[in-house]
Amino acid sequence: MPETATLTLPNGREITLPVFTGSEGERSVDISRLRAETGYITLDDGYMNTGSCKSAITFIDGEKGILRYRGYRVEDLAKHCSFVETAQLLIWGELPLPEQRTHFSDLLTENSALPEDFRRHFAGFPVHAHPMSILSAMINALQTYDLPGLIIDDEEEFERVSAALLSKVRTIAAAAYKSSIGEPIMYPRYDLRYVENFLHMMFSKPHREYVPSAEATAALNLFFLLHADHEQNCSTSTVRMVASGQANLYASAAAGVCALWGRLHGGANQAVMEMLTYMKATGISPKDYLAKVKDRSEGIRLMGFGHRVYRNFDPRAQLLKGACDTLLNSLKINDRRLDIARELEAAALADDYFVERKLYPNVDFYSGIILTALGIPVEMFTVLFAMGRVPGWIANWKEIYDNPSQKIYRPRQVYTGPIEREWINRFQREKGMTDSRGFKVPDELRAPVADDKSVSPETAKG
Ligand code: ACO
Repeated sequence: MPETATLTLPNGREITLPVFTGSEGERSVDISRLRAETGYITLDDGYMNTGSCKSAITFIDGEKGILRYRGYRVEDLAKHCSFVETAQLLIWGELPLPEQRTHFSDLLTENSALPEDFRRHFAGFPVHAHPMSILSAMINALQTYDLPGLIIDDEEEFERVSAALLSKVRTIAAAAYKSSIGEPIMYPRYDLRYVENFLHMMFSKPHREYVPSAEATAALNLFFLLHADHEQNCSTSTVRMVASGQANLYASAAAGVCALWGRLHGGANQAVMEMLTYMKATGISPKDYLAKVKDRSEGIRLMGFGHRVYRNFDPRAQLLKGACDTLLNSLKINDRRLDIARELEAAALADDYFVERKLYPNVDFYSGIILTALGIPVEMFTVLFAMGRVPGWIANWKEIYDNPSQKIYRPRQVYTGPIEREWINRFQREKGMTDSRGFKVPDELRAPVADDKSVSPETAKG
C-alpha cells in the first residue's frame, strides 16, 4: 500500500495526499493536486518546508552534517578528487574515466581564452566596478559568442558549452580583477591545470610570472570543490527557476551569479572579512563583539556562523578549517585579522548563546580567511564562490533541460493587499480623498470631476 497523508480542511472535508520518499528516506507530502482538488494552496514563506523539485544531484542531511555529491561523501571527494573531476561527477552523474577526464580537460583548455573583441568589453566598466556585476554581465554577453543560436543540439554540444562556461568564468573572473586594479589582463596558459591557471591569471604580470605554492593550490582546489553544489540554495533555485522558462545555460548561470551576490548567501564570506577588519580597526575584543551580537540592539549577526540547513556542523567548514590551518602555517602571514578570527571562533564556540542555538562556523567563516591568505581581495570572494558553484548550476540546469515533462516554475502567493476599491482620479487624490480604508468618496464630488476630461489622468499631462 503506498503511503498517504490525510489533510482535514476547515469545512471538515478530508483529502488524501500521496507521500513521496526520496532515495535517502526523506519523506514529503505530494501536494501537486491540492489546489485543483480543494482550491487551497500551501503557504511557506522562505521555503523552509518546501521541496521545489526532485533532484538526483546532491544530498544534505543538515542534522547529521552530511553532504554528498551524486552519492559520494564530500570528505572522500575532497581527499581524492580535483575540482574538475568533481564538476564532471556533478554534471554527468559519474566520476570520469581517465579518457573522459583528459577529454574534458582538453575542452577546458581549448575554451579558456576569451575572444579578442570580447575582451574589449572590460574597458566599458568603470574602474572599481564590483566584479560580481562584471561577472554576471559578461556571462550573459558571452552567450552571443559561445552559443549564438542559443540552442544546445546534442550531448556533444552540451559538453563543449559546459566546458566553455566553466573555463571562461575563470578567465572572466581574473580579467574582472585585473581591470579593477588597472593591470593588463593575462591570457590563460595551455600548460596549467584549472586552479593554477586561475592563480596565474590573477597574480602574474606580463613581466613576472606568479608561481603558487602547493598549499595555495590545494586550498583553492578544496574551496572550489566544497562550493560546487549545495542542493536547492538561493542561487541554484534561481538557476532552476530561470531554466524552467527554457532560458539558455548562460542566461540561467548569469541569474545564479546575481542571486549569489547577496550578503546572506554568497556575500557572507566578504561580510566575515569586513567584520574582522572592523574588529581590528576598533580594537574591540571578541568577547565585547559577541556581547554586541547577543544584545541585538544594533542588529548585527556573527557573520560566518549559523546555517539554514546545517544545525550541528557544516562538513565543508570542518574540511576548510583543516586546509586553513595548513595554509596559514605554510604561508606565515602577518595579518592580525587572521588571529582575531581564531580568537572569535573559540569565544563563540564556548558561548551559551551560540551553543544553545546550534550556531557553528559555516563554510564562509574559513573561506574568507583562506582567500585573504591567498591574497584574493575581499570584493572577489563572491566571484570565487560563483566559480566554484558553476558545476552545480550546470548540473541543475541539465536536470531541468533533460526533463521532458518539466513545468515552468510558477509559485502561487497569498494576496494580502487591498481588496477591490474604487477608482479615484487625480483631482480627488489631490484633495486627499481615498477609499483605501473604506472611505467612500461622496458622489456629489466625484461625478463632475469624472466627467471633466480636462483634468482626468488619462488626458492630463505629467
Ligand atoms: N549571529 C547571531 N545570531 C544568529 C546568527 C548569527 N550569525 N544566526 C542565527 N542567529 C540566531 C537568530 O537571531 C535566532 O535567534 P532567536 O531564535 O533567539 O530569535 C536563531 O539564531 C535562529 O536564526 P534564524 O534567523 O531563524 O536562522 P536562519 O536559518 O533563518 O538563518 C542564516 C540562517 C541566514 C545563515 C543565519 O544564521 C545568518 O544570518 N548567519 C550569518 C550570515 C552567514 O554567515 N551566512 C552564510 C550562510 S552559508 C551560505 O550561504 C553558503
